[in-house]
Amino acid sequence: MSQCRAPPNIALIKYWGKSDDLINAPHNDSLSLTLDTNVLCSTCMVQPSSTDEDLFYLNDQPSPISSRLSRQLLHIRQKTGNSQSLLIKSSNNFPTAAGLASSASGYAAMAGALTHFLCPSLDPDHCSILARLGSGSASRSIHGGLVRWSSSHPFSALQVLPAEQLESLRVLVLVFSGEEKEIGSSQGMKITAETCASFKTRKERAHNRLEKMIDSFKSQNWASVFELTMNDSDDLHQMCRDSTPSINYLSSSSIKLINSVQRINSLFNTICGYTFDAGPNGFVIFHKENINVVVDEISKDFPDLNSYYHLINDYEAKSSVTETEHTEIINVYYSSIGDGLTCNHYQTK
Ligand code: PMV
Repeated sequence: MSQCRAPPNIALIKYWGKSDDLINAPHNDSLSLTLDTNVLCSTCMVQPSSTDEDLFYLNDQPSPISSRLSRQLLHIRQKTGNSQSLLIKSSNNFPTAAGLASSASGYAAMAGALTHFLCPSLDPDHCSILARLGSGSASRSIHGGLVRWSSSHPFSALQVLPAEQLESLRVLVLVFSGEEKEIGSSQGMKITAETCASFKTRKERAHNRLEKMIDSFKSQNWASVFELTMNDSDDLHQMCRDSTPSINYLSSSSIKLINSVQRINSLFNTICGYTFDAGPNGFVIFHKENINVVVDEISKDFPDLNSYYHLINDYEAKSSVTETEHTEIINVYYSSIGDGLTCNHYQTK
């Protein structure tokens, strides 16, 4: 039996739009930070099925095999010539489909476990291609650290910087909603590509930002990394709003968080950046030495952050922790930058 764990990743330069829907080929290059599997993770286990059919369990519930998983299965079977039926069990330790990239970690873990079980000698690049067939952004979760996913054939995701060079970076995730989004990212991308005027120049905008961002990471110009991160998140959400029908993934809490981060940055010289995927939940990126300032300021706007201080392990709470009613924040995650996919093989009796 093979078991793999994969983290979500958070895109700083977003993937939005496909040049080929069938293989999730991206319209533009994207750049992401891989989160820590100890905080957020999907686990997938693959072993031989006891019947002659493939069986799939999601979070311990028997579930139909999605078209994305079928695509992965077809691909790995063609590649390996191995057609044995499989029992596949996948689970997440965080809510699915809530802008928290559960599809990225989920399909990365599945790609890892399928590859590891059927063909352990395949290289991580191939695993990343298999992950992409499940969900585009999953291709980035195979690798740790800072990862670039290319929009040129063969659409590989490759590591730009390893996690150990990003040791002091942290991502604070504020979950405002655990509900499934009404318009999934694939549908949102299609609507934007077809109807939003500024999508026509999106590829160039993303490319320019991405090149500047890689330079900024390498020269440790963090203010620039945070600015570019916020610009690209704003770009994505502006394109969504300018689509027909107009799509709004952000909530009033997301807007409030944007304002908090802007206030922190004007008081303390751009020490953090926000970013939002296709959902209202906020990701704030900063260096751990600034944790007290960042959390104290955000808590002024979100008093219920108080009751999550124990989860933010670098934070030294100055005020006494009061149990506040949870009005806005339904969960908090605090992650360093992680190493990507990990796999184990076990002998079953
Ligand atoms: O991989 P998908 O289909 O879940 O799309 C992800 C899209 C964004 O999260 C909004 C951006 C990104 O690059 O992760």
